[in-house]
Amino acid sequence: MTRKNDLNESQPATTRISTPLAELIDTCLSRRSALKSLFAAGVATVAAPAAFAATRENDPSSLSFAQASHSIEKYHQAAPGHRADVLIRWGDKVLRDAAEFDPFKLSAEAQEKQFGYNNDFVAFLPLPRGSKNSTHGLLAVNHEYTNPELMFSGLTANDAAGKMTREQADVELSAHGLSVVEIRKGDNGWQPVENSRLNRRISARTTEMTVAGPAAGHDRLKTKADPSGKRVIGTLNNCSGGVTPWGTVLTAEENFNSYFGGDPDKTPEAANHQRLGIKGKSRYSWPRFYERFDIEKEPNEPNRFGWVVEIDPYDPHSTPIKRTTLGRFKHEAATCVVAPDGRVVVYSGDDEAFEYIYRFITAKKFAPNNPAANRDLLDEGTLSVAKFDDAGTLRWLPLVFGQGPLTPANGFHSQADVLIDTRRAADLLGATPMDRPEDVETNPVNGRVYVMLTNNNTRKPDQISKLHPRPTNLYGHIVELLPPGTEGSDGARGAMHTADEYRWEVLLLAGDPAKPEHGAKYHPDTEKLGNWLAAPDNCTFDNRGRLWITTDQGSSQRKTGIPDGVYACDVNGAGRGLTKFFYAVPKDAEMCGPAFTPDNKTLFVAVQHPGEEKNSTFDNPSTRWPDFDFKRNVPPRPAIVAITREDGGVIGG
Ligand code: FEO
Ligand code: CA
Ligand code: CA
Repeated sequence: MTRKNDLNESQPATTRISTPLAELIDTCLSRRSALKSLFAAGVATVAAPAAFAATRENDPSSLSFAQASHSIEKYHQAAPGHRADVLIRWGDKVLRDAAEFDPFKLSAEAQEKQFGYNNDFVAFLPLPRGSKNSTHGLLAVNHEYTNPELMFSGLTANDAAGKMTREQADVELSAHGLSVVEIRKGDNGWQPVENSRLNRRISARTTEMTVAGPAAGHDRLKTKADPSGKRVIGTLNNCSGGVTPWGTVLTAEENFNSYFGGDPDKTPEAANHQRLGIKGKSRYSWPRFYERFDIEKEPNEPNRFGWVVEIDPYDPHSTPIKRTTLGRFKHEAATCVVAPDGRVVVYSGDDEAFEYIYRFITAKKFAPNNPAANRDLLDEGTLSVAKFDDAGTLRWLPLVFGQGPLTPANGFHSQADVLIDTRRAADLLGATPMDRPEDVETNPVNGRVYVMLTNNNTRKPDQISKLHPRPTNLYGHIVELLPPGTEGSDGARGAMHTADEYRWEVLLLAGDPAKPEHGAKYHPDTEKLGNWLAAPDNCTFDNRGRLWITTDQGSSQRKTGIPDGVYACDVNGAGRGLTKFFYAVPKDAEMCGPAFTPDNKTLFVAVQHPGEEKNSTFDNPSTRWPDFDFKRNVPPRPAIVAITREDGGVIGG
């Protein structure tokens, strides 16, 4: 039987691939010979809704969906009653004159016009700009990194950096950056708009960016190719991000260190490079082919990465701007909120074990009716770092040149130095080392700030505290920050995001609540009515202020035996901390980019690195998702998925 959503050779690259549970089962039955074993677990989920319905009566959670199967499969799966439609994949056309994807003939020229690799952050930006349209908009998507062993035949994760050709490295550079894609929801669900003039690719190979703020033009940002210190080619390792109140996108440069090779001790920036993890050997081939990725030849090139970059997605000809006021570190994200006094606050985590969380406050106020006044709002303001105590207080410590230890005696000669060496400045102020701070997001209902601490297996028993209560934190936890004015459940309007002092609480300690050795802590009914999670990474909120968490366990997914995906929980009321499982990524992928449409009827998610596992290669991948017919000889492809309810309702109820 042929179904309308089956992928076959003749379909265009942007064909929707839908997999509500019933369809999976149907397809499973119709393709028994090819897929029998593959979807066996999917069939097993048939019983889940009935079992779940029986318990809803005594369920304190406000989330009304029946849960997805909590098992690792080669294909993705959504909660029953939902569609999970693949919207756009690596290699699909973005620009009008893009070539058709051919995994056996990749080229940088083609990749520059096609959807990039390893999608992470997703922003939905309604069209027209400033509206709350939930059926037409732009998707701005980060392409964080590349998996050459899954992109090219004949490579493994271990030998790729040494074996790759210059042409293959060029493809990788072009597969980094961002895509902006116009999309529309019609009778057949979400589709990319063909030949859109708003579509854009930003790459690490060709897109010129400017640098703004105190570090722009500083000697430490100058290179042979750019003696001005103000013009950079590309953006790297764009992890998560944020959307400003004026509709631009902030994209966060995270593990930029991994692209650089060379001996830090042979450069004048040795301490700086070492503090950021540039240690001599790159995990990429790039230093072999490009002088700028060899720090012995271009010691300042790394100083041009690790920033937050502002991009206007509504103007495909705009120049991206690296905003140095927000500091230089491994930015996970950049979440904006307008404080009651009109100033804009941006929160950002520095994702590495024992690193910090940061807050930036603009000097001037957001002007809702004067777009020109907001254009460079992020170039002036104050960056601070968080220091927590066991009494439940958080203090924000300003990183300002000349204040406290941030003086020439400690090697800081200007605010530019403080920003280029943000981590070292924060060390000197006594910031609190955290368990890999990933996303930091503000709740639009209760005004609190939620920090995803993904894990830290190197925390020692003598390094625990109330904030980090577990040594060898394998599963991660979620911390809730309470700015003044957010003690109640509807504190968003009064939330003082500019205050010097907040309160904090632990929302949950991830892990399996059925195993005392995990030391997990959730709502007491989680074991019975919900599902446990590990490695919280990104998050978002629905219009009722409920928390939607995406996870990234990496290789430990195979140890925990639970899938990565989307979990949701209440943060107020009787269901606080009761996590439920909504969507599972395919095997060896991580879940990124949760973004709701304004009406909450669609949740966009990013499936990153399907098939990333040490023995998984282009030639023999652990999954070929999202390709539906596993007989075809195609590699797995990172892709954006649009999740909707089959009855068209609001997700989560
Ligand atoms: Fe790119 Fe911290 O995840
Ligand atoms: Ca992340
Ligand atoms: Ca991640």
